[in-house]
Amino acid sequence: MIFHQPAKLFFGSGEIRNIQDIVRNELRAGPSLLITDKGLTQTGLPEKILAELEIREVFDSVEQNPTSLTVNRIGALARRVKPDLIIGLGGGSVLDAAKAASVLATNPGLIEDYEGSAKQSAPPLPMLAVPTTCGTGSEVTRGAVITDTRRRFKMSVKSAQMYPRAALVDPDLLATLPRSVVASTGLDALTHAIEAYTSRPANLITDQFALQATKLVLGSIEAAHQDVARHKEAREALMYGSTLAGFAFGNSDVGAVHCLAESLGGLYDTPHGVANAIFLPFVMKFNLRVSAERYKDLATAAGIREENSLEAASKLIERIVSVSRDLNIPGFSDLGIDRGQFARIAEASVQNGSNPSNPRQAGIQDYVDILDEALAG
Ligand SMILES: [Fe+2]
Repeated sequence: MIFHQPAKLFFGSGEIRNIQDIVRNELRAGPSLLITDKGLTQTGLPEKILAELEIREVFDSVEQNPTSLTVNRIGALARRVKPDLIIGLGGGSVLDAAKAASVLATNPGLIEDYEGSAKQSAPPLPMLAVPTTCGTGSEVTRGAVITDTRRRFKMSVKSAQMYPRAALVDPDLLATLPRSVVASTGLDALTHAIEAYTSRPANLITDQFALQATKLVLGSIEAAHQDVARHKEAREALMYGSTLAGFAFGNSDVGAVHCLAESLGGLYDTPHGVANAIFLPFVMKFNLRVSAERYKDLATAAGIREENSLEAASKLIERIVSVSRDLNIPGFSDLGIDRGQFARIAEASVQNGSNPSNPRQAGIQDYVDILDEALAG
């Protein structure tokens, strides 16, 4: 068992004010390339960073499911401007795009050439990850999930060298987050914790992070969703939960929920957190026959007192369904996906690199059945 966590973590409310010190004195970096998205540009945050750092170029066109086309454009930009550092400022899409582009900055070819594990020969350019949502965990993991535009398939690019050099995690950056994004990214974090705890590669170390993340996210997400600007403690707990869940799944894995969410993201551009929230209870029901004891541990962490493991698991599933409803997560039927496409979605889910990690073996028919159950609600 190996537990990786090489990203130096700077965590705390107001930590963003130390970005200049972190870049100059901790990372010893000069000119940087800033990767962000248009939504964040409107908040004025990238401008503040521009005023503090030597930013050679800004790329602010990362989409909600980052594509190979976008990553290849950023890679070309990085090769041209030759920065010391890539800074990813945004949600999971921005961080994944920045991570993947840091591989292209020092290696030839297109990002499609690096699908899979450790395909690059030169170490990627150092990266600083600054998450502005409470779900991704990407700031402390080694992978990036990128939609291959040609295949409309979410591929994974992974390497132990792809960990950000540093992660600057400031819960105050959540204060301006729209409520729907608090909901979807918070439930993504919860899914990371639950899947990390139940997936096959889980171990005693990842378990500790996953249990604590489950407790933190379920204990804070409703207050944060209600008013994230006002509830300082809730946004801190949520950000801790998101980061700890990143430690957990980054060293364990995710499972069938993410396989489905990534298939939908690749084919229909469905927001990642929304898809996870929709499928989480249905995949938990599917896994119940092999994971009841593990779900009981998670239920206990979430404050559910129940001795019988099947009962505890059912109560945890009910709790997640009720939280999703309170957070206005749409139902699967609201996404308008044609049932005729279920076989294709199921096939992409089976091909996902995390499918073998799901605690119960899931084949094409199993995924079609889960999709049917989710459609029926
Ligand atoms: Fe996720």
